[in-house]
Amino acid sequence: MKSRSDSSGISFTALYTGAVWCRHGLADESLATTQGRLLYALMTPLEAASQRITGGNIRTFLLQRHRIIDHLADQAIAAEGITQVLEIGCGLSPRGLRLRQRHPQLHMVEADLPDMAARKASRLMATGHLGPHHQVTPIDILAESGDQTLEAVVARVFEPARPVIIITEGLTSYFPLPVIERFWRRLGAVMAERAGSLYLSETYLIPPQPLLRASLNACARVLGRMTSSQVSFHFESGEAAETHLLRQGFQQVTAHNPEHFYGRLAIPQSRETPLIRILAASGPTGLPPADRV
Ligand SMILES: C[S@@+](CC[C@H](N)C(=O)[O-])C[C@H]1O[C@@H](n2cnc3c(N)ncnc32)[C@H](O)[C@@H]1O
Repeated sequence: MKSRSDSSGISFTALYTGAVWCRHGLADESLATTQGRLLYALMTPLEAASQRITGGNIRTFLLQRHRIIDHLADQAIAAEGITQVLEIGCGLSPRGLRLRQRHPQLHMVEADLPDMAARKASRLMATGHLGPHHQVTPIDILAESGDQTLEAVVARVFEPARPVIIITEGLTSYFPLPVIERFWRRLGAVMAERAGSLYLSETYLIPPQPLLRASLNACARVLGRMTSSQVSFHFESGEAAETHLLRQGFQQVTAHNPEHFYGRLAIPQSRETPLIRILAASGPTGLPPADRV
């Protein structure tokens, strides 16, 4: 039985997303795994059925979120000149490699729970990509003390006071809102010390239709049991997500609807309005939110 603060049961899902990135031309074979290929094959009939019935599926959401986060990171690097990126819960995502290819000046740090971080580091080492400007480090967003906390990692790997883009992709929905809220408040405090920092993530919306809501809740319970986590939909709308993050102290928050990127980015389109939003939040200024009453 895992303790409440051990979320390592989630890690295998990175094998599936890793396979999706490979199959859709976003990653090369150096990040592919046999288990990922197997999961991809097993999921294909379910994904096809979901596409037929609901007009979208997990792969649609994954590709929407991945490419939009990439796009927003590219924009911040080009327009704001940010040169430090931390991807938390990186799994086997190829984003770090692709960002470094497009922006060779970047200091890219990928972070995950120790086992997944070791796995990623060995893959990057094998292809000669690991080095002073592309690192992998263990992190645990639930840790409150020690060298794997968010605060310790950021202080250890980056220059002080310089802005950083912090990304979590496919991580926050595995935790109930009070748990992830605590992480966001700590993240806000870290970003407040680095003016101009940006947080990029995604959130899955609570479906408005009762039938769809019941079936997605059932799927979430199955995934929760498989990953020993509490898979959760946190918000009913993008606006609710924006308001909530603003209350945590973030300064400017936008919940991007993938529809706004149709035709501009190479993303698949959902039949209905997509139930995912990509969050872009700039860090608080002044007093860190953790210190506010
Ligand atoms: C669904 S996967 C997403 C991986 C990657 N971001 C992607 O989109 O392909 C979730 C990732 O979060 C990591 N993870 C789970 N709990 C974590 C924690 N407490 N701190 C940091 N990372 C965690 C897992 O190991 C896994 O790699």
